[in-house]
Amino acid sequence: MSLNPYTFLQTLESRSGFTTEDKQLLKSYAEWGKTIAPEMADHFYAYLNRDEEMHTILNATEGRIHRLRDTFIQWFYEMFTGMDDWGQDYADRRWRIGLVHVQIGIGPQHVVPAMATVVQEVGNRLRADGKDQRLQDALGRICMIDLAFIEQAYVEVSSAAVLRETGWTEKLFRRLIATGAGKMS
Ligand code: HEM
Repeated sequence: MSLNPYTFLQTLESRSGFTTEDKQLLKSYAEWGKTIAPEMADHFYAYLNRDEEMHTILNATEGRIHRLRDTFIQWFYEMFTGMDDWGQDYADRRWRIGLVHVQIGIGPQHVVPAMATVVQEVGNRLRADGKDQRLQDALGRICMIDLAFIEQAYVEVSSAAVLRETGWTEKLFRRLIATGAGKMS
């Protein structure tokens, strides 16, 4: 069940229709992305801080919020550059971001609305700056790809932990999940 980040990235690109044209477009706006990244980080952390539970996580350790602001700015810019043209490095980095969130216990209920905020704020800024609609579409797609990495990290880490602890086969595990889901509905 071990996930290959680069293969996963390629699967997501094809599922989302994230094309070579999208990549070219994002790269051509990389400087603009860099300029607006700090403002996007401000919106993002203002949003997270308005939620009591997320506010507690963000301020749990000294200096965390400042570290996060810097890492968010970097992350945001990487969506435009693709790091190594959306290659192995990009995939490994996204996978690592997913694992960090799993470790801290930040789940889909936190991450999905947070990514929706990024998409909305970047859309507002795009319109204000009179940018191309195609840029908004490309950004929406790469945000969803990055989101899928964080979500998938949850599934992979949880499944791997159960399999390791119990010694169950994947087949048995899947059957138990299907039975459990059936009982809950
Ligand atoms: C759009 C969704 C999100 C993105 C793109 C994002 C981005 C990042 C990045 C790039 C890192 C650094 C990872 C590393 O150290 O390698 C990080 C860490 C972290 N994020 Fe997020 N994040 C998101 C959602 C959230 C949410 C909803 C929370 C909830 C409070 C959160 C809290 C944290 C915390 C506490 C850390 C670890 C900070 C530390 O102590 O170093 N993130 N995030």
